[in-house]
Amino acid sequence: MLIRNRRLRTNEVIRSLVRETIISPNDFIVPLFVVEGQNVKEEIASMPNYYRYSLDLLKKEVKELWDLGLRSVLVFVKVPDNLKDNKGTEALNAEGLMQRAVKTIKDAVPEMLVMTDVALDPYSSYGHDGIVEDGYIVNDATRKVLAQMSLSHVQAGADFVAPSDMMDGRIQAIRELLEQENFPNAGIMSYSAKYASAFYGPFRDALDSAPGFGDKKTYQMDPANREEAIKETLQDIAEGADIVMVKPGLCYLDIVREIKNAVNVPVAVYQVSGEYSMLKAAAEKGWLDHDAVMLEQLTAIKRAGAQMIASYFAKDAVKLL
Ligand code: PBG
Repeated sequence: MLIRNRRLRTNEVIRSLVRETIISPNDFIVPLFVVEGQNVKEEIASMPNYYRYSLDLLKKEVKELWDLGLRSVLVFVKVPDNLKDNKGTEALNAEGLMQRAVKTIKDAVPEMLVMTDVALDPYSSYGHDGIVEDGYIVNDATRKVLAQMSLSHVQAGADFVAPSDMMDGRIQAIRELLEQENFPNAGIMSYSAKYASAFYGPFRDALDSAPGFGDKKTYQMDPANREEAIKETLQDIAEGADIVMVKPGLCYLDIVREIKNAVNVPVAVYQVSGEYSMLKAAAEKGWLDHDAVMLEQLTAIKRAGAQMIASYFAKDAVKLL
């Protein structure tokens, strides 16, 4: 025997010395769901141990995250039905829930990196990410609203906007408006390769944002496509994205690696709601070891090339590390 690979696996000390991928609190972006009201902490039915918070409790939550070493959050809001329309009017309200949430977080923990979701679905009476005309999600009018929405988030104090809508040309529209309005340091984390995935179901429960008709296949990507992911991503970088993203995570790790090899900006992965719920359900049944499978999945996502992971497991994970 000239080569014995098992020498480097003899005990935990040598294994940690040669380990190629390490998970740390710095790797995480924590998704947060915000609702109107006072003293509200509602568990999301399809996402065990994950909650929607009213602003007063959001304050406590972000302080706790900071103390755990979690330094970045991605904010989503659940908009009351009576404020939804087809144009996303409420999305531009300077006193809207998102804008107040951003201020609340910055008040509670000024150093927290605040990213905001930019898409119309939580605000849309149709539950679509853009403006609907004759059953079609129109691109160019939507892109203008998304730029206005981004500006409004940045004016409220957001560090990064995260457009999750997959309209064409929206990164450019956002970047140009932010430059023009003198927010040169506002970042854009683009959901560049976002697939039309069935794994978003629990998230749509969380925000009550399921599409009222049809599906999202005319704007989100076909899960069958690989080369298109590279094209979308390179385009977003050319339009001014600082960070690009692949979404969902586990089923798309081949795409993560290819994109990682093709670009020179940081690559994020969104480990989505369905990925969270699947493991929680299997663990509740006693069929999988929750913590071990969680860490294995997070490690796999990072090993594939993710520089950062938006994950509902962030808190669970850092408590174990
Ligand atoms: C909507 C949006 C979705 C998610 C993030 N932003 C759902 C969708 O596209 O329908 C999904 C996140 C998750 O499932 O965890 N713009």
